[in-house]
Amino acid sequence: MARTEAMLSLQDLSVKATKRDLTLVDGVSLSIGAGERMALVGESGSGKSLTCMSIINLLARGLAVSGGSIRWNGEDIAHASPARMRQLRGREISMIYQEPLTALNPILSIGTQLGEAARHVRATRADVLSMLDRVGFHQPERVLRQRPHELSGGMRQRAMIAMALLGKPRLLLADEPTTALDVTVQDQVLKLIYDISVETGTALLLVSHDLNVVRRIADRVAVMYTGRIVESGETERVLTAPRHPYTDALLQSAPSIEAKSSRLTAIPGRVPTPSEWTSGCRFAQRCAFATDACSVKPAFTEVDGQAAACWHTDRLLELKGVAS
Ligand SMILES: Nc1ncnc2c1ncn2[C@@H]1O[C@H](COP(=O)(O)OP(=O)(O)OP(=O)(O)O)[C@@H](O)[C@H]1O
Ligand SMILES: [Mg+2]
Repeated sequence: MARTEAMLSLQDLSVKATKRDLTLVDGVSLSIGAGERMALVGESGSGKSLTCMSIINLLARGLAVSGGSIRWNGEDIAHASPARMRQLRGREISMIYQEPLTALNPILSIGTQLGEAARHVRATRADVLSMLDRVGFHQPERVLRQRPHELSGGMRQRAMIAMALLGKPRLLLADEPTTALDVTVQDQVLKLIYDISVETGTALLLVSHDLNVVRRIADRVAVMYTGRIVESGETERVLTAPRHPYTDALLQSAPSIEAKSSRLTAIPGRVPTPSEWTSGCRFAQRCAFATDACSVKPAFTEVDGQAAACWHTDRLLELKGVAS
């Protein structure tokens, strides 16, 4: 697919826990074009959620963007005013969360909450009803009267998707939107997110642990490890011929679609915590290819839009029998 001009562009974005002066996101650069579907993958603690929360300017208290830029159609929004961000949220950029109960108010009916969201984005009651129908509520009047806990997990997630999409945003941030759901419902909700993205041309930044999901949904993928992106590129390329040993290890630890029950080979060692991060390659201590060279931060090398930050890509490719 030809790359469209970037709508969202992160340049060297860093996020810190300010009190402890601890870097948690360390120089992330990525861009998303209009209508593009991008996935962010990586083990727990790599900074995927903080990257999303930075984009929508909802970092928790005590965390702050400490470097780099976030540009939305050219406008630097990393330091936008609260009023400007309120304008953008819901209308241009929306977010859905892993657990809708954290985003929905438990004591208010879905109707009240959707009504509030609708006012914010100037959507009509007819818009609300048609959006509810679109996300799979075929008796929308009924769900409007219900409270979040009266709905199943899947239905709550659908209600949150409806709320997020009411203002026809150009970008939807979806942070592990289905991990809290039953496996059978996960598929339906992911399909809904994908279909709506295709129908409406809404770009998607999907955070997921599941490489099979990423393969089905995303045009491009960025792999994060310890606060940095270590590899990015077109999904099919990255997931069939990774250029970074970490991506390769992730793929080997993921069950394949064909053999769902195959044993997981966990990546040896553990993810270093932010206070243990070094300036060099942070995967080196778990990497079969590591040498002294890895004490220096690896530069990105790029082939056909597939970029990897590793000094030993050639050795990985050689081992895999792929010509570099
Ligand atoms: N409010 C906070 N204060 C201090 N540290 C935080 C805070 N929120 C997150 N962190 C730390 O920042 C790092 C990145 O967290 P983040 O939630 O972005 O990871 P993630 O990639 O989304 O992980 P997961 O897959 O578990 O959701 C982690 O080490 C986490 O412990
Ligand atoms: Mg997260």
